[in-house]
Amino acid sequence: EKGGWSSFMAKEVSEQPDAVANTLRGRIADGHVVVPELSAFGDDVLAGIRRIVIIACGTAAYAGQVAKYAIEKWAQVPVDVELSHEFRYRDPVLSDDTLVVSISQSGETMDTLMAVKYAMSLGAKAISICNTQGATIPRESDAVIYTHAGPEVAVASTKAFVAQITALYLFALHLARVRGSLTEAEQAAQVAELQAIPAKIETVLQVEDEVRQLARWMSDTRAVLFLGRHVGFPIALEGALKLKELAYIHAEGFAAGELKHGPIALIEPGQPVFVVVPSPRGSAHLHPKVVSNIQEIRARGARVIAIAEVGDAAVLPFADTVIRIPLAAPLFEPLLAVVPLQIFAMELAIAKGLDVDQPRNLAKSVTVE
Ligand code: F6R
Repeated sequence: EKGGWSSFMAKEVSEQPDAVANTLRGRIADGHVVVPELSAFGDDVLAGIRRIVIIACGTAAYAGQVAKYAIEKWAQVPVDVELSHEFRYRDPVLSDDTLVVSISQSGETMDTLMAVKYAMSLGAKAISICNTQGATIPRESDAVIYTHAGPEVAVASTKAFVAQITALYLFALHLARVRGSLTEAEQAAQVAELQAIPAKIETVLQVEDEVRQLARWMSDTRAVLFLGRHVGFPIALEGALKLKELAYIHAEGFAAGELKHGPIALIEPGQPVFVVVPSPRGSAHLHPKVVSNIQEIRARGARVIAIAEVGDAAVLPFADTVIRIPLAAPLFEPLLAVVPLQIFAMELAIAKGLDVDQPRNLAKSVTVE
């Protein structure tokens, strides 16, 4: 079943262009998105939504954090992203104009299932983003948008993550259309960005050898930090999660702007720090801020690995290693920047002789609280 691959994870990482392409298939016509699954709600209901609450755990929650930026920008609806297990045990204020969007690869995560049921009992409408046909969470929800990543076998989620972001972006664009918050031309521009992603991920996958080298050099590293800003922040969190679960290395992700509020105290000579750098073109206001963060940590001896757009020369004087990703509009960068981080965690685990498909203490589907 692994084909020629050394692990399911390696296979699934390489399948990410297809995971995105298959999730888009049949859902785009004439430059706009068509999500028939959402007809479970009338357009008037979707137009009247006042608030969205995204519920998920782990990697799925990071997909939700990425999507928050897109939904708020395109559909102009406020979005909160909540961990299922936290949501369930407080007293959330919900009403029938709240839409709950759950995200789950397996569709069986108990915490997420119970959170969805709880939200529905309080009157919220529920949409499931799910990778497993006929699973419990989509069955319990009012509507489902399936991600078509194909079966994900490795415990660490990879291709499901990019498919989740893709499905959430389709949802966001559908919502923007019924709410009239984007012009036809703006919708078409986002759709074109989405359609270009599979080929760009294919390009990013070529960093594999370079990242493997890096992982080998770093195989005795004891802690790794990840910095990102805007949509790069949840990617920093995801990079850290991958490294913890696969390579058993202490890893933490931070919002780059938070550095001076505490985390910079962790920087000592030789400390590896991955920095997800926003595009100098697309995020002209944020790019210099992140470059100056890099200078600050470099001045304190950090070993900087920058994930930066092709052609971004500003990072060169300060980064020890630069991993390049193709140009994309800012909201689409996460779909590219996450790939080297997945490969890094996988290769570091391999360099340490660990089982990348079955990390210790973890199960693929968490069906208990
Ligand atoms: C991380 C990972 C977990 C899952 C989380 C949610 O690589 O696999 O963090 O993302 O347990 O699982 P699902 O998406 O099945 O609800």
